[in-house]
Amino acid sequence: MAGFTQGRYRHVTTIQTTDPRGLALTGIDAQGAETFESFINDSYYYRVGVQDRLDSFLLEQPAFGMGHVFKGYSLMSEGLASSHAKAATHLQMAQALPATPRERLHQEALRAWIAQDWRACGFAWEQILAKWPLDLLAFRQHTGTLFWLGGKRQQAQIAASVASHWGTEIPGRPHFLSAYSFAMEEIGHYAEAERAARQALESQPQDLWALHALSHVLEMQGRTQEGISLLEESGNFLNDYNLFRGHLWWHLAIFKYSTRAFDEVLELLDREIYPTSSSFYLDIQNGASLLLRLEAQGVSVGMERWERLAQGSLQTATQNTVWFTTAHQVLALLRTGRVSAVDETINYANAQGHSGSRRALLAAQISEAVVAGSQGQVQRALDSLLSLRHEFGLLGASHAQQDLYQHMMISAAMQLDDWPRIRQLLKERSIVRFWNPASLDQLDAFARQIDEFETAEQVRAELCH
Ligand SMILES: [Fe+2]
Repeated sequence: MAGFTQGRYRHVTTIQTTDPRGLALTGIDAQGAETFESFINDSYYYRVGVQDRLDSFLLEQPAFGMGHVFKGYSLMSEGLASSHAKAATHLQMAQALPATPRERLHQEALRAWIAQDWRACGFAWEQILAKWPLDLLAFRQHTGTLFWLGGKRQQAQIAASVASHWGTEIPGRPHFLSAYSFAMEEIGHYAEAERAARQALESQPQDLWALHALSHVLEMQGRTQEGISLLEESGNFLNDYNLFRGHLWWHLAIFKYSTRAFDEVLELLDREIYPTSSSFYLDIQNGASLLLRLEAQGVSVGMERWERLAQGSLQTATQNTVWFTTAHQVLALLRTGRVSAVDETINYANAQGHSGSRRALLAAQISEAVVAGSQGQVQRALDSLLSLRHEFGLLGASHAQQDLYQHMMISAAMQLDDWPRIRQLLKERSIVRFWNPASLDQLDAFARQIDEFETAEQVRAELCH
C-alpha cells in the first residue's frame, strides 16, 4: 500500500508518497495517491465521469504534478488541435512544481506530444519504462499513442520488454494484460493475445479493453459466432461505460456484417454506434466505415445516416489530429454534397502535411483519391490509392479498421471491371488472417479459389470475411 513521507526538495517541504507499484509521487499524500490510482483504474476501464472528478481533484491538489500530466495526456488523447493549449497549461503547471526524474520524463513526453514530436515523445516514455517498467501510465500512453502512428511492432516490443515485471501480485496487472493482448494480436500472435485477454477478464469481466483485444482475435481468426456471443453478452453492460463502448458495438456490427445480416448492422449503427451526431473521432470512424462497407455490398444506406455523420464531421474536420479519421470525415462530407467543407478538410491536412506531418499529407492524398472517385474518376482514384497502399499503415488503426481501404480499392476495381486487380487485392487482404505458418496451406487454397472468382457476388461475399 502507498506510504507517506515528508522530504525536502528545492528548499521547500514537499510531500512525497508512492503509488501501489512503489513509484514515487510528488506533491500528494497517501490518500491522494489512492484517489489518483482510482482515476487511472477508472480511465483504463473506460468508466464515465473520470475527467470531471480529475478536474475537481486538481483544484484541491494543485501541487500534484503527475495529476497535471495525466490531465494533459487525457486532453491530448482527444485528438484535437484545440486541446493542445489546454494540455500545455497543465504541462506548465507541472513543470513549475517539484518532481522526480521519472515525473520530469513524463513532462517531457507530454511536451513532445503537444509539439507532435513523436520521436522525442516515445523516447521519453521508453526511458521511463527502461528504469521503471511498472510505470503503468507510461506503458499505456506509449502503446496507445503508437497505435495511431502505425507502430504495431513497437507496441509489441514495448509490451514484451516489460512483461516479466508484471507478476500476478502487481496491482493494476489487468491493465497491463489487456494492452499486452492487443499489442500481440496486432502482430498476429493470436493465441498469446487470447490468453492474456482472458486473464484480464478473469479479474474484471467488464474490462472493455480486454474484450476489445479478444474481439480482434476472434475477428482475425474468423470466429464470427464466438464474437457475436461475446459482444451480445457484453451488450448488457456496455452502455454503463464511456464513449469507447461505441467501438465494441462496432465490432459486433462487423461480426454481423460477416454473416451478411446487413439490416442488423444498420440497426446497431442507429441504436448504439452512431445514434446521434458525434464529433468524437472513433465514433466517426465507426459510423463511416460501416456505411462504406454496406455500400460496397450494394446496400442503400440512405442520406440521413450520412447527414448525421457529416454534422459530426463538420465540427472537428479541421481540428483533427488522428489522421486515420480524415478520409472518414471526407466521405461523410462528400456524400452530403459539402464541397467547400471537403476542400477545407483536405487543405487543413495538406497544410499540416507541409508543416512536417507525413501522416497528415498521406491523409490528404487518400482523401483526394476519395474525392476523385466520387467525381467519376474511378481509375485515377484507384491508381492513387494503389500507389499509396503500402503506406496506409502509417495512419495507425487496427487491421480490422484498415480494411476500409481494401473495401475502397476493391470497390473501385469492381467498377472498372479490373479482375486481375480485384484478385490481387483480395489475396493481399487475406494476409492478416494467415500469420501462422501452419495455415500456409490454407492460404494457398484460398488464393487458388480467388483465382476462380468471376462475379461481383463472389467478391462481395469474400469482403464479408
Ligand atoms: Fe477495434
